Amino acid sequence: MTNSTSRPRFATSFGVIATTVGSAVGLGNIWRFPYETGSNGGAAFLILYIIFVLAIGVPLICAEFIMGRSSRLNIFGAFRTLAPARGRTWAAVGCLGILAAVLILSFYAVVAGWTFEYLAESLTGHLNDFSGPGRHTAFDSFTAGPRCLFWTLIVLAANAAVLLGGVRKGIERVSNILMPILFVLLIALSVNSLFLPGASVGLSFLFRPDFSALTPAAVLSAMGQAFFSLSLGVGTMMIYASYFSSRTPLIRSALTTAALDTLVAILASIMIFPAVFSFGASPEAGPKLVFEVLPDIFAGMPAGSVAAAAFFLLLVLASITSTISMSEIVVAFLIEQWGLRRIPAVAIHTAICALLASLCALSFGPLAHVKIAGFTFFNLFDFATSNILMPIGGCLISIFVGWFIDRSVINTQLAPAPAALIRIITLTLRYIAPAAIAIIFIAGLV
Ligand code: PHE
Repeated sequence: MTNSTSRPRFATSFGVIATTVGSAVGLGNIWRFPYETGSNGGAAFLILYIIFVLAIGVPLICAEFIMGRSSRLNIFGAFRTLAPARGRTWAAVGCLGILAAVLILSFYAVVAGWTFEYLAESLTGHLNDFSGPGRHTAFDSFTAGPRCLFWTLIVLAANAAVLLGGVRKGIERVSNILMPILFVLLIALSVNSLFLPGASVGLSFLFRPDFSALTPAAVLSAMGQAFFSLSLGVGTMMIYASYFSSRTPLIRSALTTAALDTLVAILASIMIFPAVFSFGASPEAGPKLVFEVLPDIFAGMPAGSVAAAAFFLLLVLASITSTISMSEIVVAFLIEQWGLRRIPAVAIHTAICALLASLCALSFGPLAHVKIAGFTFFNLFDFATSNILMPIGGCLISIFVGWFIDRSVINTQLAPAPAALIRIITLTLRYIAPAAIAIIFIAGLV
């Protein structure tokens, strides 16, 4: 086991924000958020989502931060050492998080692979093949073919390369540079979308709520999306907090992460929805929504191919800053609990994910007919992690910090925040978050 003195730390406070925001911001914001919003009625989903981020997301980020920084361990080790009794039982929750992280990476790598394909197509001037009336066929035949699997494996290889670089040189350095550039580009693209013909239809879909259309399943999806986008319930924020300096203000960092993450999701939606309606696509297209609409956006823009290349490059990189964060959960577990070195830990994790990710990549082609409970592998991993494993993990983390961790530990970790704020967070973790998660979870699944 690695002890806390030899453990790496993020070097700067900018690095802390860049890495946590780097984990949070990724395909979850730019790919998943628009397709979930589109499939669940638009504005009402967006409003619910924001409520979940504030009411459950922020306190839960704090809970993971508290566990990570006070134990300076991975999710498994954190539960085991912080639990006053029954450490082994609680550590099982850690195993759940590790399993979820592996499953998330397995489908996430496929979508990141689509982004690599679009980057390659933009660089070679062929992105237009994916736009216009032929867009469905072009996308479907790409995802059904061998290139989809190829890019998925490339993503896992790139992910492994950064992980081998370790915490400061790999994770922190990459995040510092990328996140600010992505932000600027997104603002430019969303402003561009506002000028598309018929943009207002997309904007009213996004901002004019119709709550009558909300089903319990949509409410569960909004909560699941909040967990997914904030990387919650599996131990990502926990492992990153274990690399924070003891001076990093936790509540402020949690708020900044949640605010920037939500801003990116909203910007991405402003970029996508006017275009969806302007180009006559369906907001309910599901996981392929963004990939079918983006090429048209770029095709209609001045210097569109340069913008497309820049955008997909950043999206590739933003997804890598997220894949490394979900992988670090597993890698840190293998290093700290099993005593492995970093290289074999990264190798084992990558090999397992390569196997599972191949199943997901082939879900659009040769394995499309293989269904478990009506889902393809890809859809199953996507649904089961966001709507089941992450909420369960989040609920248990909330209960654990709210009820089982010493108040003095919480107060020290959350200092120097005002006492009233600390109290609100503690109360939320004790009562509100577990109850809300449990009710929405059960209602949504039934
Ligand atoms: N939050 C990331 C995104 O929005 C995905 C993620 C989920 C990362 C879980 C880590 C853990 O893309």
